[in-house]
Amino acid sequence: LPVASFDCTVFGATGDLTMRKLLPALYHRHRDRQFPDTSRIIGAARGQLDDDGFRRQAEAALRQHLPADALEAATLQEFLAQLHYRPIEGSGEGGWETLAATLAERPGQVRPFYLATSPELYGPICQRLARHGALSPQARVVLEKPIGHDLTSARDINRAVGEVLPEAQTFRIDHYLGKETVQNLMALRFANPIFERLWHADMIDHVQITVAEEVGIGGRGGYYDRAGALRDMVQNHMLQLLCLLAMESPISLDPDAVRDEKVKVLRALKPIAPHEAHLATVRGQYTAGAIAGQPVPGYRQDLGGEASLTESFVALKLQINSWRWAGVPFYLRTGKRLPRKVSEIIIEFRTPPFSIFPREAVGMQPNRLLIRLQPEEGMRLEMMTKEPGPGGLHLRPTGLDISFEKTFGQRYPDAYERLLMDVVRGNTTLFMRRDEVEMAWQWVEPILQGWTDRPETPRPYAAGSWGPTAAIAMIERDGRTWYESLE
Ligand code: BG6
Repeated sequence: LPVASFDCTVFGATGDLTMRKLLPALYHRHRDRQFPDTSRIIGAARGQLDDDGFRRQAEAALRQHLPADALEAATLQEFLAQLHYRPIEGSGEGGWETLAATLAERPGQVRPFYLATSPELYGPICQRLARHGALSPQARVVLEKPIGHDLTSARDINRAVGEVLPEAQTFRIDHYLGKETVQNLMALRFANPIFERLWHADMIDHVQITVAEEVGIGGRGGYYDRAGALRDMVQNHMLQLLCLLAMESPISLDPDAVRDEKVKVLRALKPIAPHEAHLATVRGQYTAGAIAGQPVPGYRQDLGGEASLTESFVALKLQINSWRWAGVPFYLRTGKRLPRKVSEIIIEFRTPPFSIFPREAVGMQPNRLLIRLQPEEGMRLEMMTKEPGPGGLHLRPTGLDISFEKTFGQRYPDAYERLLMDVVRGNTTLFMRRDEVEMAWQWVEPILQGWTDRPETPRPYAAGSWGPTAAIAMIERDGRTWYESLE
């Protein structure tokens, strides 16, 4: 549904996220006529630009990041005309009055503030917005991840923001929640009772979540080397996926109904104590290798030759202490410079309690439900079938496949499109609540502590491989294997 007209201020307006994700997302929604032309997008950053300078940068970014056929000249010009720019000092005093005056020109507008800055600025920016009277009842502040670096800094940020802004106006974004297929997890689970009846330790042997990326750390080494894969991907995106997979049915789609259920999953995660951290996790760092036939440098070279103990890959096994999930391991792995970009969830069901088939009926495998989040979004239910023809009873898995692209035949909107429009609508369902973020940090922190207490060099893996062999050994110790569905 189209949304109301808005004045959206983007802090960090000349940064990578704005140029690569936010402006393209807003452009698509403009092109689809999802918001009124009277809306304004106000870039704010330290650089001394004027409106035209910002429009030129935005145009270059759109041309770089969008396919040429999405960029009709007239639509592009209309969109650029909606862009404005106000120089600002995030933690200083310069520029605030001008910004406040710009916003005050249209007092009744929905007022999203997107903080695409470093998290240390979230508190100071919100405090300044409040001081200059910009936090109207229609204000909604979007906080990008990472919300802090650990539990203490996350709490500090939440406190500083919470002092001037009600929770209902605070939008902590995790862009995985805006991915179409992630929302499909809710549809899969709560619109298809045939699965929900099986969604239980009685029927499920274990769950795997893989988020693999081809890219390395690129130009983000400064941030990434302080973060590492556990903070960058597990604390947020992967735990969010886990919550949606494992939660009980919410009583409605109201923001708090959904978020209450997610928090319960986080609270039920079995803690991994610092002294268990090394055994329960595998940390890796990529070395030079090849991806799709192209040689790529190692992590340290990407960093500019510095020594570093930061992990670019992590695998871990976790348990959820609840009736539904007791005894079902969840194996998570994520890394940079893996063979291809793929995010998928594998639900592996239990094998038959007793087999009536002779030993020669080779190929017996458990039923699996594969949920492919990206690319080639879809689902596949693997079932055992008899191979046709004479020569005995040979079983092999075949798949019931749903390809979302083939079924729906339309462009998959980027996660940010949906989430930005939800911000304008004021709907926080797909955003993280304060306690959710803190609970996730609380679970991750003892692992980080264990790693700091006893620093170890991450295990090397060649770029283009599936990570260190120790990650394979971790799951194989339990008599299981990582499942790669692409073949
Ligand atoms: C970001 C991480 O949150 O998610 C990046 O900071 C990562 O390191 C990215 O590359 C992955 O997102 P997507 O949508 O490409 O899977």
